[in-house]
Amino acid sequence: MSKSKIVIGNWKMNNSFDEAEQLITDIEESLSDYQLDTEVVLCPPAIYAELVTDHASLEDSKFYAGLQNVSEYDNGAYTGEVSASMLANMDVDFCIVGHSERRKYFGETDDIVLKKMVQLLNQQLIPVMCCGENIDERKSGNHFDVVQKQIEATIYKLTPEQMERTIIAYEPIWAIGTGETATPAQAQEMMSFIRSLIERKFGTEVAFYTYIIYGGSCNASNALNIFSQPDVDGGLIGGASLKADEFIKIIEAAETAGKEN
Ligand code: PGA
Repeated sequence: MSKSKIVIGNWKMNNSFDEAEQLITDIEESLSDYQLDTEVVLCPPAIYAELVTDHASLEDSKFYAGLQNVSEYDNGAYTGEVSASMLANMDVDFCIVGHSERRKYFGETDDIVLKKMVQLLNQQLIPVMCCGENIDERKSGNHFDVVQKQIEATIYKLTPEQMERTIIAYEPIWAIGTGETATPAQAQEMMSFIRSLIERKFGTEVAFYTYIIYGGSCNASNALNIFSQPDVDGGLIGGASLKADEFIKIIEAAETAGKEN
């Protein structure tokens, strides 16, 4: 049994509208030459959602539209927020939740992350739930405990049916935007641990089919080694998703690794 990889570009709060348009056009043109098994998702800042959904909805499009955040609330008097039903209205298919930058700068707790996941799942969107330890937790050997607690407080509260529609991104905080990547062995060790947690709660089949992807300074040079690990189903790419050539090379690495596994 094998499954294709998934590569998700997280643009974070970057790019002018013109730059965003150029990046999408460049990615689209490059991907038009490929017959891809890998699923590709682009997550721009919310205000550019329509730009991405317009391209993603084209018949021969090779990518899906995602966003980086959603409100934990339904609808109503929540100034500045965007609801999951609005994402669904705009034909957005994926949404990142619980990114460490949101946990750190915007006080997003596991409870809030869970509420956001449920909002998305209720609207048939796919949450990409981020977890991962900081450098102190890694150095003190607590990284497995930290990730287990994050999974238990979020993923373990889902029904099996909801779990089947959820992606988990393991992103060690010390590797995000730092240029310091987890070694393939470190990524594999943690991601196999996460899969065992899923197995314990939801069974072998759900654990096998759950997408667990790696994020943190993943780039064109290290992607193939990381994606070739048996429990790594792809990547969540920040900085390197802002350059079309680099992002395409990462997608190529995912294709190659997907055929090897
Ligand atoms: P990075 O970011 O690839 O720039 O390290 C990854 C992420 O934060 O999703």
